[in-house]
Amino acid sequence: MLVLPNRYTDPKKYTNDLCEFIATPLIDQLTGGIHVNDALIYGAWESLPRDWTSYWSSWSDHRLVQQELLDSIEDRGELMTTESCDNHVELLHSRPVSLVSWLQKLNSLALPRSEREGPLAELPDALTRRMKTKKVAEISKAAAYVHDVCQRKGITRVVDMGSGQGYLSVSLAHLFPHLKILAIDGSASQIAGSQEFANSLGIPDSKLAHLVHWIDGSSNLAHRIEDWADGQKCMLVGLHACGNLSDHMLRYLTSVSCIETLGLSWRVSHQLDFEKAQPHPECHGTDDGLPSPKQLGTVRRPNNSSQK
Ligand SMILES: C[S@@+](CC[C@H](N)C(=O)[O-])C[C@H]1O[C@@H](n2cnc3c(N)ncnc32)[C@H](O)[C@@H]1O
Repeated sequence: MLVLPNRYTDPKKYTNDLCEFIATPLIDQLTGGIHVNDALIYGAWESLPRDWTSYWSSWSDHRLVQQELLDSIEDRGELMTTESCDNHVELLHSRPVSLVSWLQKLNSLALPRSEREGPLAELPDALTRRMKTKKVAEISKAAAYVHDVCQRKGITRVVDMGSGQGYLSVSLAHLFPHLKILAIDGSASQIAGSQEFANSLGIPDSKLAHLVHWIDGSSNLAHRIEDWADGQKCMLVGLHACGNLSDHMLRYLTSVSCIETLGLSWRVSHQLDFEKAQPHPECHGTDDGLPSPKQLGTVRRPNNSSQK
């Protein structure tokens, strides 16, 4: 069941505040107005509040600005106090009031997170020799998690969106013979890498299918998934789902009937699970476990031509 942040009891109020917040320029740019890699370029900078951009411009190193923003989010809007450099501390204290209150709003809307002690899958050399150490750790956690959810729910099909080089899809296909996987990515070269990885392990297309398709919320992709699923229940997964990928995955969870559950991570430590058919007790009239998804569905998503 979805647990709302502390200060919220009414899912409608939460959804309204969330919709209002995601229309603010930076969130808009990070979640679909523009690809995340381009969020501070291609004119995006100009559409941010002037007092924020002049504040960030006063920092000597743009990497510190990015780190400061990430730390502020992690620190739940508090100013960092551990920073030793006086100049840095001074800059932090001159943060514009509107940015401080934006960060506070962001943190008040953040869903509660808990670190989950999950099982780890043991990955054979055949899989790990293509992966860096960090990837091995991620995949052994993610693969075990997906397997566990599928077992508990009697699911035998997994759709991996933004599958990249196929580290997760290929590992699932290799480790768990009863699972069938559909790996989808908008990049033909990523899919080619994943296909080559699968071929090197002798995994047939009937077990791991690949699809080059932009994940765009379209019904065309929904139909392709339904056809592949062949009436079976599916788990939708996304590892490092960047840009607007996670928005679209949430849309597919609510709109594609064969998709039963969603496991989504930005980083593996920031993992969200959504399941259908477990509505919040206050969510009268909704049956997909999300607060008032119709309200969320009405949020305008700009269609930016620079998305790749
Ligand atoms: C950060 S990589 C993660 C790859 C893989 N899941 C992993 O963790 O190793 C994101 C992948 O998603 C793909 N991607 C991002 N947005 C997409 C979209 N809207 N439609 C299709 N693919 C997308 C990119 O091409 C890239 O391969």
